[in-house]
Formats: sequence, structure tokens, C-alpha cells
Amino acid sequence: MLAIIGGSGLTTLSNLDVSHREVVRTPFGEPSGALVFGQICGRPAVFLPRHGYGHSIPPHMVNYRANLWALHHHEVTGIISVASVGGIRDDLQPGDIVLPDQIIDYTWGRKSTFFDGVGSPVTHVDFTEPYDAALTDRIADAATALSIPFKRGAVYAATQGPRLETAAEINRFERDGADIVGMTGMPEAVLARELGVPYAAISVIANHAAGRGSSAHGIRFESLDYVLQEAMGRVRSIIERVVGCQDNCQPMGISV
Ligand code: HPA
Repeated sequence: MLAIIGGSGLTTLSNLDVSHREVVRTPFGEPSGALVFGQICGRPAVFLPRHGYGHSIPPHMVNYRANLWALHHHEVTGIISVASVGGIRDDLQPGDIVLPDQIIDYTWGRKSTFFDGVGSPVTHVDFTEPYDAALTDRIADAATALSIPFKRGAVYAATQGPRLETAAEINRFERDGADIVGMTGMPEAVLARELGVPYAAISVIANHAAGRGSSAHGIRFESLDYVLQEAMGRVRSIIERVVGCQDNCQPMGISV
């Protein structure tokens, strides 16, 4: 069963035919919300909104460990993370879909490992390739089959938030090699790795990053909201296809 963690712009998965919800209690506290189980075209899937139902949990307050633990507890075979990001690279425009392949972590103070309990062994997971290539391939294949354009390969800069960046910070991230910037990519990706769950991301460009393009003098999300919503429609189609819908599939979804 695949899991989908939805971020800003994807707080519900309307193509999920819901069977039940479950509030999971974990040794790390409560996840962002009840896990929503169901089927997409007859194939099982589970959805979790990263910022909670009602979008009330800011990026630095998300209980990433509880979220990942809860999904792992249900033996998910992979996690697709969906999140909106700012575009740093010149060719990235609002509405573009990007499949990142690398991360630079600028977050601080977040609980970013499962291996910090008293008596737990010192453990260093390999994180050379932070995203699962096979799952990213499946996402890319689905988008290609649907003729949905996407860009593969990008360095994701994970920032602390909840404030947006200064123009100078974005310049620094670019010098560091970052292409996109978001607030939730870490520690989500490394926690999945620690649990051995394949993890891939679909990043949707919501805006030009601070100081760039249409954000040269500030970021105004409101004017880009419809772009994000339209792009999330394409992301839903990609997810449907990855989970199992082939041509002629008619998902019988209801909103969750
Ligand atoms: N910066 C950080 N996170 C974001 C942005 C941004 O510009 N856009 C969407 N999430």
C-alpha cells in the first residue's frame, strides 16, 4: 500500500474512495491527523495531510516522527510526499511539477532521528541519495503516460520557516546548488530512510523564490493560488496512475 503525504495545496485526496480513518498513537506523540485509508481505482492507499485537517500545523511544528512512524506501523510500501515549493532555478515557473533528487538541509531544532533514545545504538543511515529512485521512476513514468510535463532532478533546500526567505538567503541557496526551496522536506525524508521506507517527492512550484521573477519585490501567494490548485489537479492524476489506475480508469472518489 502506498502512502501519500499531502502538503499545502493538497490537504485532501478527492480521488480516494475512503474506507476508514484511524487515529494512530505513536511513541512519538500524535501524527498530524487521522490516517485516511481507501482505494484509488481498487488499489489501496493511505493519505495523511502534513499540516493537519484545517491546515493548522506550521512546518516547524509538524510531528514528522509520529507521521512517519504511523505510516510505517501500517506497513506502507512507499511514501509519496507532495509539497509546494518556491522556484530558485531560472527555468522553473509557478505551476511546474518537479521531482527532486537531492536535499540540502537548513532546518534546525527539529526532531530528526528515531535513533536518539536512551540505550539505542549509534546509527548512521546512508543518505547519499535521499529520494528513492525506483519510486521516482514510477512517478515519472506515470506523468509521461499522462503527457503531464515535469522536470526531473532538482536540489531541494529545506528551510526552517515559517517565515519565507530573504533574497540574500535565496542567493546563498543558489550558490550552494539549490534549485527549489521548501519548509517540510526535512526531516521527513531522512526519517523515512531510517525506517527503510522508500520515499519520493513531487514538488509543485507555487511561486518564484524571494527576490526572483515575480517575487522580485515580495512573495504574494494569493495571486498564485489558482496556479497551485490547477497544478495539484495534475498531481492527483499522477498519483492515481502510480497507485494503479491505467487507461479508462474511473476513480470513484469522495472528498476526505
Ligand atoms: N520558500 C519556502 N517554502 C515555500 C516557498 C518558498 O518560497 N513556496 C512554497 N513553499
